[in-house]
Amino acid sequence: MNSIIKSEQLQNGVLVLTVTAPAKYNALSIVALQELEQELDSAVKDKSVKAILLTGEGDKAFVAGADIAEFKMLPIAESKAFAETGQRVMGKLENMPVPVLAAVNGFALGGGCELALACHMRIASENAQFGLPEVKLGIIPGYGGTQRLTQLVGRGKALEIMLTGNPIKAQEALRIGLVNEVVPLEQLIATSVALLSQMIDRAPRALAMVLKAVGAQGRPDGYEVEASAFEECCQTADFQEGVSAFLEKRPPVFTGR
Ligand code: COA
Repeated sequence: MNSIIKSEQLQNGVLVLTVTAPAKYNALSIVALQELEQELDSAVKDKSVKAILLTGEGDKAFVAGADIAEFKMLPIAESKAFAETGQRVMGKLENMPVPVLAAVNGFALGGGCELALACHMRIASENAQFGLPEVKLGIIPGYGGTQRLTQLVGRGKALEIMLTGNPIKAQEALRIGLVNEVVPLEQLIATSVALLSQMIDRAPRALAMVLKAVGAQGRPDGYEVEASAFEECCQTADFQEGVSAFLEKRPPVFTGR
């Protein structure tokens, strides 16, 4: 049983993972990171998990960063491995074959912002704030933030955010393309589940192949990955079903095969 990452699977296959450490604004300790990795490792093998929603407990914070108290005990010799561990877990999140949505319910700072960035999409509540304040502590983002924020919002804006360390509010995050949508806090989970539910209705293999191809964006083999993913979809029964259903003017019944 996890102590920090609570998991609950909804009936339609959405796995809700909630970071639960409200006394420290859901700061992501090393144990929390390990628990998250375990959850992702089991979710990737579990065919009943159709999508993942990641959020934080309460109405203050999504995740306010790595646990700063643990930095005090971090030996220099282990600092690179510390970042690499975080990068590995964020990479697992990004490479999930099912849609992963961050429902950002408050502060998403430092490692918390990087966690949201590693999700495929983000919906924020009106009170959410995003930032990479690491330079205020004398470090830099180490869980992939330098790469993912730059890719998402462009170099100039990403550098402004990382070099000042100042947070931005939800509406500004929306304006620069950091989040997909901003909604009142009380509608955050329902809106997020509704968006994931639309995706769950589509052909599962096609979803996985979109995620794989988009994951290859910017790589030299990006177009090759897309063409191979297209070919893989063409071999599925769901492709036959999707085309037949369209021609027969009926809703498709996808089986994931
Ligand atoms: N790690 C460990 N503890 C954290 C934390 C973090 N990243 N973020 C918040 N907390 C703890 C605070 O120490 C405080 O604990 P206490 O009540 O035992 O003193 C509690 O959470 C509430 O935080 P507090 O600062 O009192 O709340 P606030 O509303 O005034 O400010 C923040 C909220 C998020 C702006 C502020 O806590 C903050 O700047 N946190 C650090 C963010 C950061 O630098 N993250 C990047 C880390 S790499």
